[in-house]
Amino acid sequence: MTVAQAPLFPAVSDAVAVPTAWPPAARLATSADAHTFEGVLCEQWCDWQDLQVKTLARPPLQPGQVRLAMHHAGIGFALKLFVSGKYQRKPPLPFTPATEGSGVVIEVGEGVTGLQVGQRVAAALDWGGLAQEAVVTAETVYPVPDELPLGLAAALPLTYGTTWAAFEWRAKLQPGEVLLVHGASGALGMAAVQIGRFMGATVIATASTPEKRAAALANGAHHVLGSEAEALSSEVKRLTGGRGVDVVFDPVGGALFDASLRCTAPEGRMLSIGFASGTIPQVATNLLLVKNISVIGFNYGLYIGWGLSDERRRHAATVQALMARLFAAVGQGAVARPLTQHVPFAQWREGVATTMTRQAVGKVIIDLV
Ligand SMILES: NC(=O)c1ccc[n+]([C@@H]2O[C@H](COP(=O)([O-])OP(=O)(O)OC[C@H]3O[C@@H](n4cnc5c(N)ncnc54)[C@H](OP(=O)(O)O)[C@@H]3O)[C@@H](O)[C@H]2O)c1
Repeated sequence: MTVAQAPLFPAVSDAVAVPTAWPPAARLATSADAHTFEGVLCEQWCDWQDLQVKTLARPPLQPGQVRLAMHHAGIGFALKLFVSGKYQRKPPLPFTPATEGSGVVIEVGEGVTGLQVGQRVAAALDWGGLAQEAVVTAETVYPVPDELPLGLAAALPLTYGTTWAAFEWRAKLQPGEVLLVHGASGALGMAAVQIGRFMGATVIATASTPEKRAAALANGAHHVLGSEAEALSSEVKRLTGGRGVDVVFDPVGGALFDASLRCTAPEGRMLSIGFASGTIPQVATNLLLVKNISVIGFNYGLYIGWGLSDERRRHAATVQALMARLFAAVGQGAVARPLTQHVPFAQWREGVATTMTRQAVGKVIIDLV
C-alpha cells in the first residue's frame, strides 16, 4: 500500500496571492527627518571598499513589514557580489548591504501577526543588515529563544538555514553516512561540519591552512584534509577504506568539485552550494553515469524570496518550522554554537576585509550596538 505524504511546500498558486513589499531604496537623511540612523550605503555598483557609512532617514513601514533595531549583522562572501551588481538579484540603489542579522523588533507593520515590539529576533533580509535599523518582511523574521545570545543568532538565518535545508530537503543526509565538507573553516563550511555531525554523519573537512584545519577539528570534524584538489581523491579513499563519501557539501567550486566527483561513493549526492574559489566547475557526466551520482544545485534564496519569482510566502511555514528546530537545537547545545568573530561597527571595514581576504575562521559578525 502506498502512503500519501503531505507535500513539503504548498502549491505555487497559493504562494503569490499578495505581492510582497520589498524594503524601499535607502534615503540620505536631511534636517527635516525626525528619525535617522547610521548605515553602510551602496550608492552605485562598486567595489565593497568604496562603501561609506551615511546618516539615513527612516522609511515608512509597508503592510507585512517589520522594523528592527539591528544589534548584529553577519558578513557573507556574497556581499562583494551584491554591491558590485554581480549577484543574481539587484536591490534598488541606494541600499545597505548584508542579508543576515539579529536585533529587536521596534515596529510592526499592518497585517503582521506573531511578532511584537521588543521581541528578540533574527532575520534573513533582502538587504539592509549593516545599519542600526532595517526593514524586513515578516515571513523571514525568526523569534530567538532566551537561551540563545543575539550575537550568535545573527549567524543562523542564512548560514545555518542554507546548510540545514540543503542536507534535509535536498541531499537527505542519513545517520552513518560519510560527509565531505569543503571550505570547512568558512561560514557555511563550519555550519556544515556542525550540522552534519548533529545529523549523525562522519565528517571529513577540507581547509587550506593548519589553523583552519585545527578550527574544523575543534568544531566537530572527524577528519581534516588540505584543500589541494590533486591529493583529495586518494586521501578520501584512504579514510573511507576505498569507498568514498556519500554526500559532498561544496561552497568552494573550482577544481575541488571535480576532485570530489572522483571520491564520491556509488549513489552519492554532491551539493553545489557556491563558488568561493571564483571558478564555476563543469561536470564530467560520464562519472555521474558510471557511479549513479546526483549533482544537486541548492539555492536557499528560492525559499526566502530571492528566486526568479518571490516565493517567500509559499515557503514561509516550512522555513519557519526549520528555523524553530534549528534555533532550539543550537540554543540547547545539541548543535554546537556558531564560531563567530565579532567586530564593532566602527571597524566594519576590517570585519568585511577579514571575509573577503580569506582570513575568516567561522562567521564574521559586525556588532551594531
Ligand atoms: N547556495 C546558497 O543558498 C548559498 C547561501 C549562502 C552562501 N552561499 C555561497 O557560499 C559560498 C561560501 O560562503 P561563505 O559565507 O561560507 O564564505 P566564507 O566564509 O568566505 O568561506 C568560503 C571558504 O571558501 C574557501 N575558499 C577557497 N578558495 C577561495 C577564494 N579564492 N576566496 C575565498 N575563499 C576561498 C575558503 O576556505 P580555505 O581557505 O580553507 O580554502 C573559505 O573559508 C559563497 O560563494 C556564497 O555566495 C550560497
